Amino acid sequence: MEARDRAYAPYSKFRVGAAILTRDGRYYTGCNIENASYSLTCCAERVALFKAVSCGESDFEAIAVTAGTEEYCTPCGACRQALSEFGSEIKVFMANKQGDYLVRTVAELLPSAFKLDKADQAVPPGNKKPSQN
Ligand code: THU
Repeated sequence: MEARDRAYAPYSKFRVGAAILTRDGRYYTGCNIENASYSLTCCAERVALFKAVSCGESDFEAIAVTAGTEEYCTPCGACRQALSEFGSEIKVFMANKQGDYLVRTVAELLPSAFKLDKADQAVPPGNKKPSQN
């Protein structure tokens, strides 16, 4: 996959590419971007998702991910949670080097995902909602 060629993975050398598809048929690609401060690394799936969201997208049909390996590349827990914010029914295509793939919904990959009530989410604990001020 083309997106994978742009991976910045000098530490793990594990190159990942992803592409997320909107319900309107647009798609956005992502690659993993590592950092010398390892925990700042961002996976290909989240790069694709955040690129899309920053371009105004929020309605997604599917995401594909591959590491060009024999095994299917399955998204990490953080990416599953990030995707679940935008829909538990988003299909996740996990491809291997041969182009074979597994497909699962986000809900199947992350049952009981953490959710916040959107009406309350901007309220820090102990504070009142703006409307109650
Ligand atoms: N990585 C991804 O980009 N997506 C995955 O689904 C699994 C892991 C990246 C993060 C890091 O740059 C490298 O692969 C090794 O963990």
